[in-house]
Amino acid sequence: MIKRFLILFPIALWMLIQFGCDDTLTVQDVDNREIPDSNVSYQQDIAPIFELKCVSCHGSGRLDAGLDLTRWTAFVDGRIVVPGEPDNSVLVWSIEGNPVVSPMPPIPTPPLTFEQIRGVRTWISEGALNN
Ligand code: HEC
Repeated sequence: MIKRFLILFPIALWMLIQFGCDDTLTVQDVDNREIPDSNVSYQQDIAPIFELKCVSCHGSGRLDAGLDLTRWTAFVDGRIVVPGEPDNSVLVWSIEGNPVVSPMPPIPTPPLTFEQIRGVRTWISEGALNN
């Protein structure tokens, strides 16, 4: 009896670790998340969107347009993101499909939802903080 337990316990534990704790974010998880109207958090609200919809080309080995969206310090420099000024931020133009820049993300990467675009705008209005 004890012997059988000793064999089964590690197997059960392994299965729990292998299949029980899958915390990989999916596009659906991020699209379903609510973004607050104020006090938007870079870590909680914005970075996960970029992680799933932008970083395949802007970070993680590939740096299209020389743009790295994996680290706040790499892109909040007044060029792509102008803190406090979403209307002057190239990043906002790109996600809103403003024809002066290439629309982002390119098809077939899933586009940002209206809520996500609003969240990015609010985050930049509030100073594009590393919060
Ligand atoms: C499939 C690859 C791909 C994905 C995914 C992607 N981009 Fe891009 N991005 C590019 C390429 C390629 C360029 C250069 C396009 C050009 O110059 O016309 C670019 C350019 C840009 C630029 C302009 C940079 C500049 O210097 O003018 C911004 C801003 C940008 N991307 C933001 C984003 C954001 C935000 C996301 C996610 C919502 C995203 N991109 C997702 C490939 C991608």
